[in-house]
Amino acid sequence: MRNSMGSFALLCTIGGTETLGGKKIVTSASRRAKAASPFAPFQRDLPLMPVLSPVRSERGVDVYDVDIREGLADILPGFQTPIYGYEGIYPGPTIRARKGRAAIVRQSNRLSFDTNVHLHGGYVPAAHDGHPMDVIKPGAKFDYSYPNDQDAAFLWYHDHAHGRTAKTLYYGLLGAYVLHDEREQELDLPRDEYDVPLILADHAFNRDGSFRYAENVDLGFRGDTILVNGAVAPRMRVERRIYRLRFLNASNARSYDLRLGNGRAMVQIASDGGLLERAITRTSVPLHPAERIELLVDFRQFRPGSEIVLHNDAGEPSTKAVMRFDVVRGGGVEEARIPRGRMRTLERLPEPNASRRWDLTLATASGVQWQIAGRGFDPTRIDVRPRLGSTELWQWHNPSNRVHPMHLHGMLFRIVERSTGVVHPGERGWKDTIGVQPGETVTVQPWFTPYRGKYVFHCHALEHGDKAMMLQLEVVA
Ligand code: C2O
Ligand code: CU
Repeated sequence: MRNSMGSFALLCTIGGTETLGGKKIVTSASRRAKAASPFAPFQRDLPLMPVLSPVRSERGVDVYDVDIREGLADILPGFQTPIYGYEGIYPGPTIRARKGRAAIVRQSNRLSFDTNVHLHGGYVPAAHDGHPMDVIKPGAKFDYSYPNDQDAAFLWYHDHAHGRTAKTLYYGLLGAYVLHDEREQELDLPRDEYDVPLILADHAFNRDGSFRYAENVDLGFRGDTILVNGAVAPRMRVERRIYRLRFLNASNARSYDLRLGNGRAMVQIASDGGLLERAITRTSVPLHPAERIELLVDFRQFRPGSEIVLHNDAGEPSTKAVMRFDVVRGGGVEEARIPRGRMRTLERLPEPNASRRWDLTLATASGVQWQIAGRGFDPTRIDVRPRLGSTELWQWHNPSNRVHPMHLHGMLFRIVERSTGVVHPGERGWKDTIGVQPGETVTVQPWFTPYRGKYVFHCHALEHGDKAMMLQLEVVA
């Protein structure tokens, strides 16, 4: 069997007291033997995460209630996989928000360990950002207030309690947060069921169907199975229309290189921080942990019955198939279109105030630890104090042999330069995470706006961030 169902041991011990997977799972061995391997691609239809409804909407604010709790996910036929989930599901429910309408998400921690919630890519006041030391105790609640005062973008929310995000995200604590705005609406992009969040994550399984996790601080976790929205390399029925596919790489540490079968064209319209200035045709798209990319694919060019595979060119044999699009009849009249002209004009940034270099290195003196500029995370230390509204040039310098997806909380940046070649036009929009390749130096220009306060920046290879590739900045007046 190509997947590593070698062990019955299921011990996800988080916070020292919790054992997930004590649940009994009944399967019929003989029935299983006859069925196709649960790891064979394209056996299941793509699941869609439910959209969370507000419990209340009042004067410009939508209020949501979320329970953070244990649950069981139907991933492999005949098994139930124990997870941690927002509302007990993996991936969590999708929140759809509108620019100019604030949201309050009331999170209740029903787990037996500390957790919190970070809105990744969001302009969020520091007290609501899910700083790694700001946690919700078991049994407690916190109301996260999101102003939604930024341009349309594909954000996501996830746990950020320090030191254990590799496990908590792996076991399910993440969800999509789709922010819409009017500019985007005027572009006649595909909407509703034609606008689809796709959450990629690699996993491995024990023989009882539970997730299997093995810690590797240097490489980060690598699974042998790709899940999309919580299903093994699923198939998605598509009409002969244009689809807006929003990809999130929610893997612990795996990078992807996405390509449609036969090198067919995909049109990139957005990156982490929202729309690009112009749509760009690409045949392959790299996607590092925590990055998002939005692609339009026009399925009108295919005959009903066509099956178009989305490949991961960076994968091993068992992680090459990501999903398949099965073109069906129908589709009606297409109202959406692929933008030909300018979609937006990116803001001009103020001249940089300073230039800093951050070396990304592995320290092994007292156990394996990743560092930024020779330092690990220390919540009592502020590593840099930029002024509100200013910009700086930050050089991520990577002499190590691992990719480091470097992420900045609470604000966005632009990529200025890559030592390894030109910056691709698909990377010239607003970003919050950037994959820095081994041997590479990437210069980015963060814009320290819109809030004052303390935020972290860190590597989003989760095992790196946990141990302890993370520093703090404080935006000051
Ligand atoms: Cu997805 Cu500190 O972030
Ligand atoms: Cu890293």
